[in-house]
Amino acid sequence: MVRCKKVTDSMITMTEMVLPNHTNPLGNLLGGQLMLWIDICAALCSAKHSENVCVTASVDKIDFHHPIKLGEVVTLVASVNRAFKTSLEVGVKVYAESFTGGSKIHTNTAYLTFVAIDRNGKPVPALQVEPESEDEKRRFEEAAERRQIRLNQRKDIS
Ligand SMILES: CC(C)(COP(=O)(O)OP(=O)(O)OC[C@H]1O[C@@H](n2cnc3c(N)ncnc32)[C@H](O)[C@@H]1OP(=O)(O)O)[C@@H](O)C(=O)NCCC(=O)NCCS
Repeated sequence: MVRCKKVTDSMITMTEMVLPNHTNPLGNLLGGQLMLWIDICAALCSAKHSENVCVTASVDKIDFHHPIKLGEVVTLVASVNRAFKTSLEVGVKVYAESFTGGSKIHTNTAYLTFVAIDRNGKPVPALQVEPESEDEKRRFEEAAERRQIRLNQRKDIS
């Protein structure tokens, strides 16, 4: 029987401070730096859920709506939305805040697909996810729709 885990069993929260080497000449966080943190946070979540080495198979489009400034604190929260046969979708929410005033804002949401692999790099069956809260159940349903879009895009490209 395939094992099932709770979403909360593998949630990862990562906190970073925006330093000068993370910014462009305007003092805004570089998009590539944020993408690196998103990938690391999601990879930790995926590996914790899978209890295995996981690779990033794809990253959905990421929009940057709000600049994040030098000195601000960035919090990333990753959770597994749903597992499929060998792949799983991880959602990452990004928040920025200044500890010296200003409110905490939700700056980005990213969806990544990870695959747990064996020593030969071959995909292995994913541990399944048991959504509990209303939000987890909603993300679980939405993940199936996003997967279908990814599969269609893959088919179109190939
Ligand atoms: C991801 C990888 C393991 C898939 O292996 P594969 O032999 O192509 O296996 P499959 O085609 O059977 O795909 C395995 C699963 O990954 C999913 N997948 C593969 N490519 C995908 C993509 N581009 N987007 C979303 N899902 C993808 C498949 O849908 C399948 O999911 P399922 O089993 O849940 O239905 C393989 O392509 C790989 O190792 N890629 C390099 C990963 C890497 O180095 N990442 C670091 C960043 S560059």
